[in-house]
Amino acid sequence: MKKIKHIIEIEEYQSFDELESQDFKLLEKAQLACKSAYAPYSQFRVGASVLLENGVIVSGNNQENAAYPSGLCAERVAMYYASANYPNIPMLAIAIAVESDEVKFTKPLAPCGSCRQVMAEYEHLYQLKMRVILSEPEGRVQIINGVSDLLPFTFNATELKGL
Ligand code: THU
Repeated sequence: MKKIKHIIEIEEYQSFDELESQDFKLLEKAQLACKSAYAPYSQFRVGASVLLENGVIVSGNNQENAAYPSGLCAERVAMYYASANYPNIPMLAIAIAVESDEVKFTKPLAPCGSCRQVMAEYEHLYQLKMRVILSEPEGRVQIINGVSDLLPFTFNATELKGL
């Protein structure tokens, strides 16, 4: 038996002002997107913005439904919109913002497992690391430079082929 350690690297910022201008711009778009989230059931509004290799930024927000499981997270709304409208254009970064009248955030919002899996799909497809920018309303930010740091031991198309 041997033990394998998996070390991940996270950049931490205390305020948006410390960010590089491209990350700042992307996060601003995500913040704007979360304002128009459709979240009448949770009141937990999330916005996500994806930066494409051609410079285009697309945004999405969470879309809830009276039949709860039919709703979708902001990250997947944004990534699926990007893939549907800009097929074959790599996604370089995704910024995520959150807002709630009820929740007091103590740390940046970490995306759910299903959204990480979808990020991993596109990262694998384009063979390019996707920068994941997490935030909370007070301005604290965490940046993970690649989805494999968020979702190690990923299942992707390589496993399907048994490689
Ligand atoms: N949600 C997101 O949109 N993204 C996340 O990363 C976590 C959760 C949404 C789903 C649901 O509409 C609400 O937040 C509460 O879970």
